[in-house]
Amino acid sequence: MQKFYHIVTYGCQMNVHESEKIAGNLVELGYENTDDMYGADIVVFNTCCIRENAENHAFGNIGMLKKLKSQKKDMLIAVGGCLTQQLGKAENLHEKFPFVDIIFGTHNLYKFKELVLLKEKQKKAVMEIVDGDMQIREGDKPFRTSYPNAWVNITYGCNNFCSYCIVPYVRGRERSRKSEDIMAEVRELISQGYKEITLLGQNVNSYGNGSDALSFPQLLKAIAEIDGKFRLRFMTSHPKDFSEELAKVISENPKICKCVHLPVQSGSNAVLKAMNRKYTREDYIDKVKTLKKYAPDCALTTDLIVGFPGETENDFNATLELVKTVGYSSAFTFVYSKREGTVAAKMENQIPEDVSKRRIMELVELVNSLTREHSAKYIGKTVEILCEDFDKKKNMYLGRDEYGRMGYFESNTDVIGEFVNIKITKANGVSLIGERI
Ligand code: SAH
Ligand code: SF4
Ligand code: F3S
Repeated sequence: MQKFYHIVTYGCQMNVHESEKIAGNLVELGYENTDDMYGADIVVFNTCCIRENAENHAFGNIGMLKKLKSQKKDMLIAVGGCLTQQLGKAENLHEKFPFVDIIFGTHNLYKFKELVLLKEKQKKAVMEIVDGDMQIREGDKPFRTSYPNAWVNITYGCNNFCSYCIVPYVRGRERSRKSEDIMAEVRELISQGYKEITLLGQNVNSYGNGSDALSFPQLLKAIAEIDGKFRLRFMTSHPKDFSEELAKVISENPKICKCVHLPVQSGSNAVLKAMNRKYTREDYIDKVKTLKKYAPDCALTTDLIVGFPGETENDFNATLELVKTVGYSSAFTFVYSKREGTVAAKMENQIPEDVSKRRIMELVELVNSLTREHSAKYIGKTVEILCEDFDKKKNMYLGRDEYGRMGYFESNTDVIGEFVNIKITKANGVSLIGERI
């Protein structure tokens, strides 16, 4: 009898891709994907703990499966990812939800298949959290779900220890894949028909630190020179490591999308220092200028945090000013969330919720107005869209342009995975609507 899996993914692209690796393991074991969680034989939660609400969300949804599990005793429930990798959280989860069958972390993801086989043999729960950094393993066959885009890891882990961030504690030290392995994976993906490659790392710019002959700009250039029509993206760039050489490589290679995600977090030097970001507002603006000097049309997006401990009204205003100065095409905005075990969690002057709420609303309003301005400039222009999907509700195809802007259009034929030109007729907040030409 056919067995089915269902995976629920929280968090960043790293997790999205890791869910594809988990899926690959399950396909090898003979499972097939189902969108219906209630019809699945195994449900996997791939969790995130970057902010408290991400964690609560996961806990809540796992809890909801208790009833289902009591009705469907043979159904397996597995929980892995960043949440379980936090100190003491796996035990916590096991106590709270004893019906969870498999608990694993970020460093033993590659063993997922073995853990499932072990659980099939034994009655008691399988719980394995490994402390040491995951060894880089090649040859996994992810079951990819994001055609025409393909995610490709270039680094794992993070050494930056921004004072608010849990990632270095749950993902371990930074490790780079060998450039020849990355190149081989990209070549294979292109030959299979993927049209967009997104390189993944917590800080892609420090790729190769000590372990590989190529720097990140050299790697990017080498990948961009692979034959075939495809787009190349990368995330995330840490501003402290964003170099002039990288700006040059971006500008010189048409396959590299002119769109850089460069998280600034705050526009205040005092806050940036307390965050341990290792750059000043002035350094950041200089890097943006360098990038624009080489690639004047390059779009910039960012991440911003409000309510970091000690953030004054002046600090917050400096963030608003910086956002206006840079003119981001879009931005992710977050309220600071205290993460146990990080340096910032112990800081005094934690900001009251009502202050953070007011600040985030003001910031979101500013970011939205910038996004609308950017979108309005598109009207009447023709852009090349890589079609990604079909929106059943809108009855339209959708895809992104090189700058990352989403465009919707009608088409009589299925064009998913194709590059199409559309003339923009309407701008709707962050998304554009156009006619195929
Ligand atoms: N490695 C990437 C992504 C980190 S997580 C990078 O350095 O950019 C994505 C974003 O979540 C961060 O850029 C930051 O803006 C936000 N973030 C991380 N920790 C947070 C916390 N404790 N509270 C609120 N936002 C946080
Ligand atoms: Fe977190 Fe900073 Fe590393 Fe990004 S660079 S993952 S924000 S510690
Ligand atoms: Fe990503 Fe969340 Fe982990 S943002 S690295 S899944 S804590």
